[in-house]
Amino acid sequence: MKPKVLVTRRIFDESLAALAKRCDVETNQKDLPVTPKQLLQRMKGKDAVVSMLTDVISDAVLARNPQVKIVSNVAVGFNNLDVAAATRRGVMMTNTPGVLDDTTADFAWCLMLATARGLVGADKTFRSGKWKYWGLMQFLGQDVWGKTLGICGFGRIGRGVARRARGFDMRILYTDVARAPDAIEREHGASFVDKATLLRESDFVTLHMPLLPDTRHYIGAADLAQMKKNAFLINTARGPVVDERALVKSLKQGRIAGAGLDVYENEPQPAPGLTRLPNVVLSPHMASASVETRRKMSDMAVANCLAGLFGERPPNLLNPEMYKSH
Ligand code: DGY
Repeated sequence: MKPKVLVTRRIFDESLAALAKRCDVETNQKDLPVTPKQLLQRMKGKDAVVSMLTDVISDAVLARNPQVKIVSNVAVGFNNLDVAAATRRGVMMTNTPGVLDDTTADFAWCLMLATARGLVGADKTFRSGKWKYWGLMQFLGQDVWGKTLGICGFGRIGRGVARRARGFDMRILYTDVARAPDAIEREHGASFVDKATLLRESDFVTLHMPLLPDTRHYIGAADLAQMKKNAFLINTARGPVVDERALVKSLKQGRIAGAGLDVYENEPQPAPGLTRLPNVVLSPHMASASVETRRKMSDMAVANCLAGLFGERPPNLLNPEMYKSH
């Protein structure tokens, strides 16, 4: 009998076909996020789940579905998965690291440039027909080139952002829980500083850390108060890394110049007042959304799932200790 797999949201047809060759697959072609209750219902009798970041796979969910062998998340971030509970229950969990780093780094740059140069507001003005003539004093933004870039979280994506910054002749600062090896610092032209120095000296602060208990509200009111008045905050990591209400307050009061956000504390709801601010560029959690990258994520999640189901080590196991027990 073929293993039964639930794919909670839409994935690429080719990946689905690869999965369907070896498994009985229940899909969700409408792509609507499933409620916790629907998730429980659909997981019944399934051996594996291909999940998305909109699915919360908690200890309670795993407890109700003890037959599940593997949960394969189509994302690099896995704050929606309780990996510790999965390990306790002997369930493998996987993610899709690596393939989206450059695409996400590109998008952080997209937000940085669009925010600093006021591109979204200018586009609206042009479309509305309100632009009547060229003027020296119109649409004044701030330069990005030659400024100081502060990268919080110097993993694969943070480093990708740094590599791009060299073409903009920027001074590059970074902070992280541990300092990177000298060779990596030299390669990226980046200097390690503490968080306070980074916030004080950067014109652009860009966030690239995972959401963990320690990184929740990594940027709060006190941190925003340390930033330069003409600085911009860019977040393509996870929404709860920033205290969004404090950010709205700080932007309203002009304590920082602007923000480019792709992720939100309570997706898809923005914090009150956020969407009325003129000095923000807001995108709907799309930093990894290029066809090429999303296709790779989709294939990778299926490969992880098949490996786990058919007795091989899934390439991107989040709880490697699980493989030994299979
Ligand atoms: C991830 O992979 O964690 C992103 O947030 C979605 O691509």
